[in-house]
Amino acid sequence: MSARFYNPVDTRFGWNSLVELASITEHQKVALVTFPEARGLGLIDRIQDLLGDRLVYIIEDVQPNPDVAQLRTAYEHFWQNAHDCHTVIAVGGGSAIDTAKVLIVGTESGRFDELLALLATGKPFVPARCKQLIAAPTTAGTGSEVTPWATIWDSASQQKYSLHLECTWPKVAIIDPQLMLTVPAAVTVSTGLDALSHALESIWNINANPISDTLALSAIEDILECLPRLHRDLSNKELRSRMALAALKAGLAFSNTKTALAHSISYEMTLRYGLAHGIACSFSLPLVLGLAWGRDQARDRTLQRIFGNDLHKAQDQLREFLHRLEVKTEFTDYGITALQAREMIDCAMQGARGKNFIGSQALCA
Ligand SMILES: NC(=O)c1ccc[n+]([C@@H]2O[C@H](COP(=O)([O-])OP(=O)(O)OC[C@H]3O[C@@H](n4cnc5c(N)ncnc54)[C@H](O)[C@@H]3O)[C@@H](O)[C@H]2O)c1
Repeated sequence: MSARFYNPVDTRFGWNSLVELASITEHQKVALVTFPEARGLGLIDRIQDLLGDRLVYIIEDVQPNPDVAQLRTAYEHFWQNAHDCHTVIAVGGGSAIDTAKVLIVGTESGRFDELLALLATGKPFVPARCKQLIAAPTTAGTGSEVTPWATIWDSASQQKYSLHLECTWPKVAIIDPQLMLTVPAAVTVSTGLDALSHALESIWNINANPISDTLALSAIEDILECLPRLHRDLSNKELRSRMALAALKAGLAFSNTKTALAHSISYEMTLRYGLAHGIACSFSLPLVLGLAWGRDQARDRTLQRIFGNDLHKAQDQLREFLHRLEVKTEFTDYGITALQAREMIDCAMQGARGKNFIGSQALCA
């Protein structure tokens, strides 16, 4: 058995670990990217107290699913007014962290469309300049704090871009579960299911290895046990901590494997049907489990450590888990016919993430 696992992020975990921001950014000018509720929650004041006059620039209106329409203005304003910042701190969910990943990648001209044109080629590029990123997630879901990827949405033209450079790995991740206490019920569920999806997708993945499997299995066990309990008890600190750690483990797992078919399906479900990311990438998990099962003995053995060796019972267990969290699991529940679903799955199978799915080759043959 051999494996290679690479993750360069200096990762800190713990209740109230946000205070470490002060020592990590000593002598640096800092810009903050955060979510709209952060000021009302007292979070911006707290960060201001920690950083003092080193905090020189704040973006606090990041909306869910960063879209080119909003990013263009934020990006150009940032490079005009905050070009002397050394570090960008993202404190928020995946939307704030991905927005920060876009901001730190500077183009020659300082124009956002230059970056978009580079992304549209789909080829690797070396950015003209890049800032350092520190990510402190306030949701337990995306794992973006330990991955190099940022998803950029273009709802007007119904497409998405993926940004991924060596410099978009965060330098430091601070996972402080205390920041997650205020996450509302629906977002707690959708982000927790995003993490479940990351863990499962890293297992039914052609890039899986024993190290990513270990992280994924541990994350899945925690999420199956904790998420329904947390949904009923949102202020439970122990459950918030366990979900924060589970999302981190899932993030680390897929930081090495990338995602697979359920995520490939999710992009269209978000762009065309407006589903929240976590619901879009988890409603199909029972179906994708069925497509993965029987493709590869080692992958089956790993999945069976969670679900036992009866596929139908495994799918039922996953369906019941999602239904208990009030997530519908069939395409028809979202107004999509069987034929449309078939076409969507076939198309998703051909996407970059779909090709990571272990059943992809077999089904496309
Ligand atoms: N880069 C990656 O590896 C990766 C992985 C998965 C998802 N994503 C991206 O992440 C985005 C979704 O991120 P998300 O699921 O974390 O949701 P989000 O960041 O969009 O946040 C969801 C909502 O919760 C609010 N919120 C966040 N933290 C809060 C808190 N502590 N208290 C109260 N409200 C809070 C936000 O303002 C927002 O309204 C999508 O754009 C998705 O594409 C990226």
